[in-house]
Amino acid sequence: MIRPVDSLIDFLQAERARGRSHIFLDDRARDGLRELFIRMRKPVAVAPAELPAAAPVMKQDAVVSGNGKEEQLAGLRKQAEHWAPAMALGTLRETMVFATGNPNAEIMLVGEAPGYNEERECVPFVGPAGQKLNDILKAMGLKREDVYISNLVKFRPALPKQTTNNRKPSPEEMAACLPLVLAEISVVRPKIILALGGTTAEGLMGLEGTVGAMRGKWHEVSGIPARVTYHPSYLLQSGGSNDVKRALWEDMLASMEKLGMAISEKQRGFFLPKA
Ligand code: URA
Repeated sequence: MIRPVDSLIDFLQAERARGRSHIFLDDRARDGLRELFIRMRKPVAVAPAELPAAAPVMKQDAVVSGNGKEEQLAGLRKQAEHWAPAMALGTLRETMVFATGNPNAEIMLVGEAPGYNEERECVPFVGPAGQKLNDILKAMGLKREDVYISNLVKFRPALPKQTTNNRKPSPEEMAACLPLVLAEISVVRPKIILALGGTTAEGLMGLEGTVGAMRGKWHEVSGIPARVTYHPSYLLQSGGSNDVKRALWEDMLASMEKLGMAISEKQRGFFLPKA
């Protein structure tokens, strides 16, 4: 059965292939799309019975070899393509999405897993959450090319009859891919790591609880100061709540301070309640 949402995706892809970058939407269509978009952002509750049972997580070390960071990361990317512990689970899709940005960056950002847009472009954080991340970096005076952006899980978590819908990675999926991201950290050796969202913090740092409780202090990953903050998609879901924006921004200010970056008065005041 062809579902309306699949037809819509086919239509939009065909339009894009024809070189069209804009389409006309009337108010009803715009409202419908907005609702679809909001639904897409919400985590999907999937009954465990709908997912293939995960096999036990295979142990495998990622091997760092080669001269210089670029070559070493290229080697890790190659290993990730056929990462047996991830494949053995049978719960992840096939397209591998590695990392993007500057291997010499002082800041490494780690997300949970690629979604629909990231899988399509094979680049982390290019969908709506990625746009939010770009805005956050811009407010810090940075560009994507100044930082190193990766995901804990290198493949999009699978769902039955999946189209644009995404789900969070499971603990097994994160454990399976953890050696890869730890190897990336050992190559890039950033000055700080930013773990985006509670799921990432659980998988990367073994933390438990809410982001509210994890954030606001420094943790450590492989001896590198690491901070947990809200996932950019949470900003989208929380309807732009000023409290969440300010909390995330305070984590960014603390990161900038840690790196000795200049911070203007204007930057210090972002998202403060108006007096
Ligand atoms: N969310 C993530 O955690 N990572 C991405 O790459 C995109 C969305």
